[in-house]
Amino acid sequence: MTSEAFHSFQKSKSFLTDVSARSHQKSPGGKPETRPRTPDPMLGPSFLRPGTRARLPLPLAASAQGQERGSLSPSPPPPRDKSAAPSPPRLLRPGTRARLPLPLASSAQGQERGSLSPSPRIKALRNPRREGAALLSLGGGRKTPAWDPGCGGAFLARPAPPDKGGGEKRRAGEAVLLSPPHLQVSTPAEASMLPPLLAASKPLLLQLLRRSKDVPMAAAAALHAAAAAPAKQGLVLGIYAAEKDASATQFTKAGDAFDRVVSGKLKELLSISGPPLKKGKTRIFHGLHQNFSSVVVVGLGKKGAGVNEQENWNEDKENIRAAIAAGCRQVQDLEFPYVEVDPCGDPQAAAEGAFLGLYEYDEFKQKKKPAIEVQLYGSDGVEAWQKGLIYAQGQNLARTLMEGPANLVTPTRFAAVIEEKLKSVSSNVEVHIRDQAWIEDQEMRSFLSVAKGSEEPPVFLEIHYRGSNDTKEPPLVFVGKGITFDSGGISIKPSSGMDAMRADMGGAATICSAIVTAAQLKVPINLIGLAPLCENLPSGKANKPGDVVRAKNGKTIQIDNTDAEGRLILADALFYAHSFNPRAIVDAATLTGAMDVALGSAATGVFTNSQQLWNQLFEASVVTGDRVWRMPLYEHYTKQVTDAQLADLNNIGKYRSGGACTAAAFLKEFVTSSHWAHLDIAGVMENKDEVPYLRKGMAGRPTRTLVEFVTRLSQDKKSI
Ligand code: BES
Ligand code: ZN
Ligand code: ZN
Repeated sequence: MTSEAFHSFQKSKSFLTDVSARSHQKSPGGKPETRPRTPDPMLGPSFLRPGTRARLPLPLAASAQGQERGSLSPSPPPPRDKSAAPSPPRLLRPGTRARLPLPLASSAQGQERGSLSPSPRIKALRNPRREGAALLSLGGGRKTPAWDPGCGGAFLARPAPPDKGGGEKRRAGEAVLLSPPHLQVSTPAEASMLPPLLAASKPLLLQLLRRSKDVPMAAAAALHAAAAAPAKQGLVLGIYAAEKDASATQFTKAGDAFDRVVSGKLKELLSISGPPLKKGKTRIFHGLHQNFSSVVVVGLGKKGAGVNEQENWNEDKENIRAAIAAGCRQVQDLEFPYVEVDPCGDPQAAAEGAFLGLYEYDEFKQKKKPAIEVQLYGSDGVEAWQKGLIYAQGQNLARTLMEGPANLVTPTRFAAVIEEKLKSVSSNVEVHIRDQAWIEDQEMRSFLSVAKGSEEPPVFLEIHYRGSNDTKEPPLVFVGKGITFDSGGISIKPSSGMDAMRADMGGAATICSAIVTAAQLKVPINLIGLAPLCENLPSGKANKPGDVVRAKNGKTIQIDNTDAEGRLILADALFYAHSFNPRAIVDAATLTGAMDVALGSAATGVFTNSQQLWNQLFEASVVTGDRVWRMPLYEHYTKQVTDAQLADLNNIGKYRSGGACTAAAFLKEFVTSSHWAHLDIAGVMENKDEVPYLRKGMAGRPTRTLVEFVTRLSQDKKSI
């Protein structure tokens, strides 16, 4: 698609920001750079929203700008006061401001106005001690005009007797939930929307109030009383297969606690409802507890399975991810707006399972998966849960970028999304969005030869995160292939399945997402990310088989197949990476179909000249379950790319076999660092059903392994 067509596509969608409106910014080199304004659909909501809302503990949320705030609930939640009758609902339309009745608003120092904002965020928690009231505004916006169950309302808890409502005869220490009586409903259809609205808001409010030391207990009590709508909440609990006796099962710690609360009823129901739950299987029980209308029990397999040396992964963690993903999806299928999740003894793995498992790219679908809020059940392992959430969000960012259509995720848009994300998580960052003129100045002719086949301008994205206390510490440099669409060029690909080549920027997406994640986690390391971004299209200006180009390092390349474009753009980026005096260079690229033939989606292929780098990558992948497998960098393959008729190198191997290895050997010609690893991620680009906790679609692999690797490297300053 031409950029003109792209812009008209943009304009036809009112919710898409017009990228033709550009803002100018000076690059550190003093050159003005043009970049688009913040893009709309690829930002914010997409990052967190697809099917999922995540809440952060308040202190963390406060430090992470632009993130949703929330609390982590202690459990089990307190019982509801059944004596309170539901208030007649009046509903406000989303986006309108809910004004409280004048006498109340004025007596509360004129502050207590709630808005039903379209943003799914808790907007305010004022200090009720000081002001005599707590105002919580819960947004839950959708672009559609109808309410969805995730929408919240505006609530005011202030000294007043709960049964009197309206604030008459207030006594100190008592409070009332004011919102429901002040919502307006003008049609029966609107009225029918209110119960899910309340059900969605209630747990949020209760947990916020319970955890906030500032809120009087009476306010919480009043909220319990007022929230009379049925609790549409799910609970996901894990259960282990018994070690010896195959018919016995064993609850997790949280499962045990819950079973005690329901007087052993869960255990009883489990044993009469069928055979012991197998690993990854689920069973659902309704009406067990007033706060959780449904409890999904998920099979975790054997307890303490540990690292499986054959499988090269931690089986406990993998089992938890898979089981929790299955449980959460089941609650989502019930269209519940809220679910609490058993940490299963490994809150990070549980959070990863929940947030990876619920992710779905439905940006352009009218029919979306119901939004569901996920929360840790209990208060064990809040920090690890939080880390798991951030790891999953990192991978989901890569998935969003990879899945996004190529007419939207252009090089320019990709760079803008990463800039926005990176700057929103840390201030120790620098982003350079290099334009074509810069690329020409740098003499990256190999990269330019690919880019020139398309009307879409190329971008060389360069991001820096300075996390180390020692600003002079040599950085780890990540390089990612950023082909936003690979048609093959003049050596055009078959049309069937070509749409998947929108994800040919998976290398750039995963390395940039890993850097965003590391910055969000404040990993003490210096990181640089480099992503050559362009399209590979056939045109009158495109590379032709037999063309020769000179790369930045001076080597000449005969381009015998224009579809082997990844190595052409990486050649220049890898050589440029050395200018930062790197501690190590790691590149990721959806480089060869041959990699998929070799390993399929089981593991990323790693070609490296460094045993230490391999060890770190391997150990990281055992923990994340997003595995790597070592591949050879033999001279044998180098010979097959250096024997070219016209130039120093040929961009394809002399023989058909070992395509992933000849591609790696080609890249090696642009590397002098003694710590370099090339990750061919073509095989893991997409998930059909192989990874149970990822839905079908672009996988964002191996983002979590990269993050884990970076974290490990930050703790090991010696070996590399
Ligand atoms: N982007 C493709 C590789 C790819 C294929 C990634 C399938 C993900 C799934 C790459 O640019 C390419 O086309 N490579 C060629 C190289 C060949 C011409 C030597 C390939 O693998 O066929
Ligand atoms: Zn290609
Ligand atoms: Zn490609």
